[in-house]
Amino acid sequence: MMSTTATPEPIPYWRGLIRQYASFLPVEEDTPIVSLHEGNTPLIHCERLVKAIGGEFDLYLKFEGLNPTASFKDRGMTMAMTKAVEKGAQVVICASTGNTSASAAAYAARAKLKCVVILPDGNIAMGKLAQALMYGAQTIAIRGNFDEALNIVRELGETGKVEIVNSINPFRIEGQKTASFEICDQLGRAPDFHFLPVGNAGNITAYWKGYQEYHQSGRVSSTPAMCGYQAAGSAPIVDGHPVESPETLATAIRIGNPASWKGALNALEQSSGWIDKVTDEAIVEAYKLVASTEGVFVEPACAAPLAGLIQSVKAGRIPAGSVVTATMTGHGLKDPDRAIGCAAQKPDVCEPHLEDVSRLIGL
Ligand code: F0G
Repeated sequence: MMSTTATPEPIPYWRGLIRQYASFLPVEEDTPIVSLHEGNTPLIHCERLVKAIGGEFDLYLKFEGLNPTASFKDRGMTMAMTKAVEKGAQVVICASTGNTSASAAAYAARAKLKCVVILPDGNIAMGKLAQALMYGAQTIAIRGNFDEALNIVRELGETGKVEIVNSINPFRIEGQKTASFEICDQLGRAPDFHFLPVGNAGNITAYWKGYQEYHQSGRVSSTPAMCGYQAAGSAPIVDGHPVESPETLATAIRIGNPASWKGALNALEQSSGWIDKVTDEAIVEAYKLVASTEGVFVEPACAAPLAGLIQSVKAGRIPAGSVVTATMTGHGLKDPDRAIGCAAQKPDVCEPHLEDVSRLIGL
């Protein structure tokens, strides 16, 4: 037990992931860094969740919902926006299922750039839409899906008049790989398995790049198996073909033709990992379980790898004593409608009387 009289160590001022990991990133001394002090997110040890799913391993959740715009996208966006400013771009653009647009809008505001976001109308969680609007991005909702939005963005990018900040921009991947560095630094080693949701497949590509680079630099002595999960109605990589009309309640990963498909396959093969799909029902169960057993409230997409972990434990794929990490890519408050819709409990309503409240509590 730590002595209560010990002087607390001063907390270092965290200056964002680009400054922390500059030697691994494409930046120079005079690069104009655009940052909201993203990164340095908690790695939460979750014993109760492991017990609940009947496993015998150490599980750590990398809670990326605690980034400045409440998702992992900020890691890629600090890098992409920094490079956009460096090259003198005036307008940035992205297609998004919500989180990329929220992050792009915030970093563009910080960098004083015009931002245009293209979203699938009616399939964006409310918190994400609120963010894009508040940060001042021009917000265009198409009557179509994410894949169609990304096709339009690609074509606009070819005019040379706008800078694309989707993960087809390689600087996004560079920024996002730092999550692997942090996990290794926080654990003092690489995990044995890393679970994460897969949508456009940029993040699995980035994590694998990060783990490999840390390994090559000699900071860790191994790399994890990468374990990706898609929603059953939006599982192009698992099914082996694009899905024309992807469906899932995990709208963040409602994607039928991932841009980084090859990157994902590469990560799976080289890391001896796997990719699989989980049903929306399994996603909802895991979504509720992680909130109620650990106090970690994530958005539904993050529950896909947790549902996958439950599946993997049942299949005997996780040996006892393993160190497992899972990325919780976005905060639960992004999608309050879904949370309220899924919660087992609704508020008990009563008159403002002590007796009524006491009766409801059972006192
Ligand atoms: N989790 C969340 C919360 C996401 O928002 C996304 C992607 C993913 C997982 C999947 O990551 O695409 O790198 O495989 N969201 C993108 C967006 C598509 O537009 O916000 P990925």
